[in-house]
Amino acid sequence: MSDFWEERGKLDGILSVEPCADEADRKKEEKFRRQLLAWTTTLMQREQLLPANHLLDLGCGFGDIAAHLAPHCAKITMVDGSSSMIEQARATMGRTSHPSWTGAQSDLATFDAIDADVDLVYLGAVCMYLTEDEYAGLIARIAASGSRTVTIVQREYVAMNGGWTGTTEKGDYRSYRRAAGTYLELAARAGFTCSLLRYSSDMDIDRALRALGPVGRGLASVIRPIGRVARRGKKEGSSTFVLRRTR
Ligand SMILES: C[S@@+](CC[C@H](N)C(=O)[O-])C[C@H]1O[C@@H](n2cnc3c(N)ncnc32)[C@H](O)[C@@H]1O
Repeated sequence: MSDFWEERGKLDGILSVEPCADEADRKKEEKFRRQLLAWTTTLMQREQLLPANHLLDLGCGFGDIAAHLAPHCAKITMVDGSSSMIEQARATMGRTSHPSWTGAQSDLATFDAIDADVDLVYLGAVCMYLTEDEYAGLIARIAASGSRTVTIVQREYVAMNGGWTGTTEKGDYRSYRRAAGTYLELAARAGFTCSLLRYSSDMDIDRALRALGPVGRGLASVIRPIGRVARRGKKEGSSTFVLRRTR
């Protein structure tokens, strides 16, 4: 595992784990994190993925997403390649009263310890650190294991509207910028179909519409298409997609 993630996992209580996060503006980061967790949970509820039997959080970072989803999951397994990250994730889950969870250190390039009762997999900003072959291998192992019906919720920083794709390398840090479609194609080869694709701008629009209450519900059909048009100018951004497979 790269020193980058080992060192990052030693940072005390930094909620955001994105390398580009502005750590100086902690309040802003905490707010963003709260919004992301709430939005992800709502999205999972709308997709009828919660309550889940066994959540597998791969590349769990500090464990705040697993802890947030804990009330909705009977069992939770957190996995991260970095020993310092998984240590913090265990401490985060330890502060919940959840009765059935584990945290394991493992590299997702080879990870295959997927229990037969796993029905929900969360991949949060982690596959952008895997090669295409490593991603395809992981998705195929998820498809072959887990429950008969397994759903992956994946959040990834992606290229949009023909924006730059390629590899960023700094020391032993390496990340891959891909279009969301590349992930969907690779997942399709393992039998997954995409039932939902959302961008972070949708999160902002959802929040604004909710704040407007009944007025927002009335305006949704006008505001959402405007949001889609505005997004056409963006070359990169965060996307969340839902991948489903039934054996
Ligand atoms: C950007 S953070 C995302 C953390 C969390 N999932 C989230 O959504 O905020 C990426 C995490 O993936 C882990 N990671 C990166 N490459 C990995 C690999 N090959 N195997 C396992 N974990 C990896 C890092 O240690 C880090 O905790």
